Amino acid sequence: MPQYKALLFCFFILPVGSFNPFKKIVDFFRTPCDSRDTFNQTDLKRDLENKLFGQHLASKVILKAVTGFMRDPNPTKPLVLSLHGPSGTGKNLVSKIIAQNLFQGGDSSSQVHLFIATHHFPHRELVETYKVQLQQWIRGNVSKCPLSMFIFDEMEKMNPVLSDTIKCHLDHYTHIDGVSFRHAIFLFLSNEGATIINQIVYDYWKEGKQREEIQLNSHGLEIAINRAIFNNKDGGFWRSSLIDSNVVDFFVPFLPLEYKHVLMCIRAEMEAQNLRYDPGVAENMASEMRYFPEKEEIFSVNGCKGVKQRLKFYI
Ligand SMILES: *[C@@H]1O[C@H](CO)[C@@H](O)[C@H](O)[C@H]1NC(C)=O
Ligand SMILES: *[C@@H]1O[C@H](CO)[C@@H](O)[C@H](O)[C@H]1NC(C)=O
Repeated sequence: MPQYKALLFCFFILPVGSFNPFKKIVDFFRTPCDSRDTFNQTDLKRDLENKLFGQHLASKVILKAVTGFMRDPNPTKPLVLSLHGPSGTGKNLVSKIIAQNLFQGGDSSSQVHLFIATHHFPHRELVETYKVQLQQWIRGNVSKCPLSMFIFDEMEKMNPVLSDTIKCHLDHYTHIDGVSFRHAIFLFLSNEGATIINQIVYDYWKEGKQREEIQLNSHGLEIAINRAIFNNKDGGFWRSSLIDSNVVDFFVPFLPLEYKHVLMCIRAEMEAQNLRYDPGVAENMASEMRYFPEKEEIFSVNGCKGVKQRLKFYI
C-alpha cells in the first residue's frame, strides 16, 4: 500500500507540536495577501500568445490548468505542474507569466517562492537542515496566504529527500495542523525529457510536418516524457515518490525553438526595452546563435536564453 506508506512518512517528518495559541492573534495582524481582484482568463491567454513563442502545447495546457484551478472555489488538491524541456524554451517565462496573472506584485510578490536546487540546496550533507527549512517555509507561507506559488527549478538536481518533502504537501489528504495546501500552486522545472522532446520535434521536421501538429496524447509525448523521467536513475524525480503517487496534474512539454522563434524573442525583447524593432539587427543576432543538429541547424542550442544579455552588443 504505497499511499499508506507515504502518508506515514509525511506525518513522521512533519514537525509535531506546532500548535501555537498565539497563532490566532498573529493571524489577525498579518499583512493581507496579494492577489488580483479576479483571475482573468483572457489576460492570461493574451500574455501566453504575446510572450511565449513556439510552444503551442505548453500554452494550451497552462491556460487550461491555471484557469480550471483558479475558477474552482474549492480545489481538492494544490495545482501541480511539471514543466519539461531544453533550456531557454520558456519554462521560467511561463512561471513569470502565471505569477503576473495571479499577483499584483507579479513574480516578485511575497507569495511567489523560487527555489533553485543548486543555489538553495547545494550541500548534500545539509539535506536534513534543508528539509526542515523547506517544510517550515511551505507551511508558514501557505498558512499566511493559501494562494502561494512555489517554483522549484533544476528539479532534476533536487535531492530525493527534498522531493519527498515537497511531495508531502501535494496530495489530496494533505491537511496538516490545520493548514491546507489545496489553494497553493507548485511548479517543477527541469530539463528531464529534453532529449526525447527534441527527438520527437526533429522527427516531425524530417517528415515535413508542422510542429503545431504535435499533440500531447495522440503521439504519446506525455508518456514519452514520463518514461524519460523514470529511466533517469540519477534524477531526483525518479528516486522520489513524486511521480508514482500521481500528484502531478500536468506534464508540460517545451519544444526546442527554431530560428524564427528566436527572431520573435529578439523582437519582444527590443520592444520590452523600448527600442524600435530593427529586422536587420534581429536577423544578425539570431544567425549568430548556435543551432543543432549539426547538419541541418534547425533548433537553437540555448533557445532564447541570453537574448536579453546579448542584445546590447548588436544595437
Ligand atoms: C478580462 O480582461 C479583458 C481585457 O484585458 C477585459 O476586456 C474583460 O472585461 C476582463 N474580464 C473580466 C471578467 O474582468
Ligand atoms: C516564506 O518563504 C520564504 C522563502 O521564500 C522564507 O524566507 C520565509 O521565512 C517564509 N515565511 C514563513 C512565514 O515561513
